[in-house]
Amino acid sequence: MKKVGIGLLGLGTVGKGVANIINNPNDRHPLVGELELVGVAVRNLQKKRDIIIPDSILTTNPIEIVTNPNIQIIVEVMGGIEPAKSLIIQAIRAGKSVVTANKAVIARHGEEISNEAKAAGVYVLIEAAVGGGIPIIEPVKQSLGGNQITKVSGIINGTTNYILSRMDKEGVDYADVLKDAQELGYAESDPAADVEGSDAADKIAILSGLAFGGSINRSNIPTTGINHLEAVDVNYARKLGYGIKLLAISEKDKSPSKTEGSQPLSIWVEPTLVPEDNPLAGVNGVNNAILVEGNPIGQVMFFGPGAGSGPTASAVVADILNIAGIQSMSEDNIFNLDPLLSAMSWRNCHVAEKKQITKKNYIRLIANDSPGVIGEIGTIFGKKKISIESIVQFDVTDEEAEIVVITHKIQQGQLEEALLEIKNLSQVKRIAATMGCL
Ligand code: NAP
Ligand code: HSE
Repeated sequence: MKKVGIGLLGLGTVGKGVANIINNPNDRHPLVGELELVGVAVRNLQKKRDIIIPDSILTTNPIEIVTNPNIQIIVEVMGGIEPAKSLIIQAIRAGKSVVTANKAVIARHGEEISNEAKAAGVYVLIEAAVGGGIPIIEPVKQSLGGNQITKVSGIINGTTNYILSRMDKEGVDYADVLKDAQELGYAESDPAADVEGSDAADKIAILSGLAFGGSINRSNIPTTGINHLEAVDVNYARKLGYGIKLLAISEKDKSPSKTEGSQPLSIWVEPTLVPEDNPLAGVNGVNNAILVEGNPIGQVMFFGPGAGSGPTASAVVADILNIAGIQSMSEDNIFNLDPLLSAMSWRNCHVAEKKQITKKNYIRLIANDSPGVIGEIGTIFGKKKISIESIVQFDVTDEEAEIVVITHKIQQGQLEEALLEIKNLSQVKRIAATMGCL
């Protein structure tokens, strides 16, 4: 078999992991030995790298890679929106299949890229874009295709899960742990994407599109990260029998659609209290876990390392092998069959407004430690038909009390109205935190 030429766009955390696998094929699937690294684009040729790549295949000009006739598969692992998106499209138009780990590009421009790929008769595979090393894209796209999917949820950002786990277990500072996550290669080049929740929002947009069969308007997903999370909430959550995880949730909305013929979905990203006996509570460190619920499968959980060089490279190489395997079946490189079931929209979906999301909530209020304050808060919740699961008063200092309320499942619109009234109570100083709760 003729070697399959691979062009790498990027030789950072993920790129190095991919090059390491291709350069060390021993004891792996025989197809790995048929891959050849033909070109590698980087930003800085002078950078010291802990991998040996011949100078002759390194370039700072990615266009050379996407137009090289000896390359059949382009692996985009440079990150960012541009020039990554344009390079992917150029590669497709040059008749090359593309493997990318770039969830930011796919969540925003996936439909355009998919249409280009269909027109050119090539594949764009994205296994590494969600869940790091966990095979989740192909299972959602193919293995679960016979199900009516009702919900996809879980922990899909490794950096924040690593930070939250260490804050919880060691009581260490947020900033120090973030630095460690960056050094370990987990964080995005701009870690704001991790800690502000936007990386998780990109990933849940991609999963929702595949699971529910319609493209998702990424910008409509209500997103809260862990950057405003206070240690006191981690502490109170623990006292109440919960851990805190950054969850991404996407579920079929049961309320009637306002947009004719369109499937409404509630999708959101938010720090969430998870009961200690919930399987997600035991998912720690850089690990991710994704729960997929549907009919008739019930619930399946996908678990494993959600970021890092080796795990992410494992997912990238799986995609390369899938494409290389199909190419080896087809001498002229024209795919007549589609064993990989290319991503396809088969209905319209729309993201429901935040006020329509129905969930349990954790609320922490700072109030005067005066008689009757809990009663007044309870009365407002009652008036708004919000049923309370528990209300607890914690630390009292300098006449101040911290009151933690956990509600039953309610619509966010109801909660917003109630909190507006509660904020205006003379005894209430501020609403210090709101989060989701399972
Ligand atoms: P990274 O360590 O920052 O590496 C980026 C690489 O791309 C570097 O080698 C850089 O060159 C090169 N590069 C950037 N812009 C370039 C340009 N304009 N022209 C040529 N080369 C350019 O990033 P990473 O962590 O590997 O992440 C890469 C992608 O994978 C991102 O989309 C990320 O979201 C995704 N991803 C990452 C992980 C993870 O655990 N890190 C997991 C899943 C998905 P220099 O080396 O010369 O600077
Ligand atoms: N920064 C991302 C994370 C990389 O921490 O999950 C994996 O997509």
